[in-house]
Amino acid sequence: MEWTISVTTLLSVLHAALCFNIDPVAWKTLRSAAAGFGYQVVQRQSDLLISAPLEQYSQNGRGKIYTCTTSSPNCQNIEFEAPGFAVNMSLGLTMKSDPTAQNTVVCGPTIPNDCNSITMYNGVCFEMDHSSTFGTPRPDFIQACPPQADIAFLLDGSISVSSRDFQTMKKFVKDLIQSLLSIDTQFSVSQFSTSPQVHFYCTKFSSSTSLDTTIKEISKLGGTTYTAKAIKHVVEKVFIPQRGSRQNVKKVLIVITDGQSHDRNHLHSAAQLAESKNIVRFAIG
Ligand SMILES: *[C@@H]1O[C@H](CO)[C@@H](O)[C@H](O)[C@H]1NC(C)=O
Repeated sequence: MEWTISVTTLLSVLHAALCFNIDPVAWKTLRSAAAGFGYQVVQRQSDLLISAPLEQYSQNGRGKIYTCTTSSPNCQNIEFEAPGFAVNMSLGLTMKSDPTAQNTVVCGPTIPNDCNSITMYNGVCFEMDHSSTFGTPRPDFIQACPPQADIAFLLDGSISVSSRDFQTMKKFVKDLIQSLLSIDTQFSVSQFSTSPQVHFYCTKFSSSTSLDTTIKEISKLGGTTYTAKAIKHVVEKVFIPQRGSRQNVKKVLIVITDGQSHDRNHLHSAAQLAESKNIVRFAIG
């Protein structure tokens, strides 16, 4: 029998043959009952580092690193006392080695920090030298909870909005503030119409009764719809430290309107002005 093969086929066969070989006989199996064992593997000169980031070894301790050799398959836990702040950090979720320096960076990125209603996660890394000694943690502290937000509402009080819709807006604002009362958030409410009017500047409400009365007192102005002018007013007159707006907190502007504004040609520049002050904007129709 005669075989014919084209040159290109031959070349591609040769090309495919340039991969590495796998020895089918000398497999070694490394085992451990530790949770998540094998998640990260780092090869060093004389051993392997294998992490088990989900291993919960104490109430607040999570994540172990093992050193393993393949000569007599066997893994040993590397003794390490985690710093107190590194609660449930999942040590070994990331692990990377620098073959030149013979160092390995081992990280635990899941340290929870309860910040009022949300949990923020922090991480910590350690440099481990060739003899498996852990260095100092970096960073060596947990970031404090960030202050929350200053939120300004801008309600459409123009003639085109019915009294019923205006009541709905007020209820929406009240409910939203109510739901965030326990968090470190300040609120301001303004109304826009022919000219904007600020009902209250950045305020932290301590009770829902004071909130109720404050919102109830807001009545509709009933003029024309100057949205851009009002946005500019809030950016320049409300989101300022003199009026209690805080530096370094998230600033949010929520505009509630029924639609068309008389100064829509200026909306773009008003939005840019807000953008330049890092104010996040939402429009609700
Ligand atoms: C750490 O994780 C364990 C197990 O999930 C949990 O019981 C414990 O409350 C956690 N500790 C903290 C401070 O979150």
